[in-house]
Amino acid sequence: MKRVVLLGPPGAGKGTQAEGISKKYDIPHISTGDIFRANIKGETPLGLKVRKYLDSGLLVPDELVCEVVEDRVMQPDCANGYLLDGFPRTVPQARFFDEFLAKRGEELDKVIDIVVDEKILMDRMTGRRVCRQCGKPYHIVTMPPKVEGVCDVCGGEVYQRSDDSPETVMNRFKVYDEQTSPLTEYYRGEGKLAPVDGAGSVPEVFSAICALLGE
Ligand code: AP5
Ligand code: MG
Repeated sequence: MKRVVLLGPPGAGKGTQAEGISKKYDIPHISTGDIFRANIKGETPLGLKVRKYLDSGLLVPDELVCEVVEDRVMQPDCANGYLLDGFPRTVPQARFFDEFLAKRGEELDKVIDIVVDEKILMDRMTGRRVCRQCGKPYHIVTMPPKVEGVCDVCGGEVYQRSDDSPETVMNRFKVYDEQTSPLTEYYRGEGKLAPVDGAGSVPEVFSAICALLGE
């Protein structure tokens, strides 16, 4: 049983690492960003509500996010644990989730904090492309898909996220510093924080995460 949170600034490699972790530990990867983007694409009521926040790099209001996550983790495929990517992202979201778990007699196992310098992050973000269908991240220089514009895994269209322009990325860093970085103290206080150096290669970072999560 693993209930794991992936914490880290935009571009730290949460989505990239989530793929391997989800496979190795056989737990679903739950990315709130991917859920919102799928709803925006499908023009659902939720998608219409959240679009303006994602486009400008601002956080979606806590109540909306918490409702989405609560629904998702109550699905049967989460019975043996799950990997949360991009949630919680504010202290109120973390408190909400702790209370939600406590009511069920559950708790988080670990909060993996992927730590990367801002200069490296900007290069990663502006070169990033993602699959519109399955969300798999690529990079035009370091990790291009085998066929340009086509996802290796599902054949979906590989595109550039609307929030990956340099201006919006700067805004997302600011939002991270102000609203999300206090979570490191919050989870350190709970004894759950496990920092990982995210500047290495994808396999190096993956090994460091697996060493923290155990077998
Ligand atoms: P979200 O989709 O979660 O975006 P984010 O947190 O900004 O993180 P990213 O997805 O940009 O980065 P990542 O860490 O996944 O990096 P990746 O693996 O792709 O959220 C988007 C928006 O949704 C938010 O702005 C907000 O509006 C809303 N939202 C979502 N959750 C919310 C919440 N809880 N509350 C409120 N609002 C919420 O990697 C980046 C690039 O680097 C890729 O090109 C990759 O190939 C490359 N790369 C990765 N690792 C390495 C490595 N080790 N070496 C070299 N390159 C690497
Ligand atoms: Mg991501």
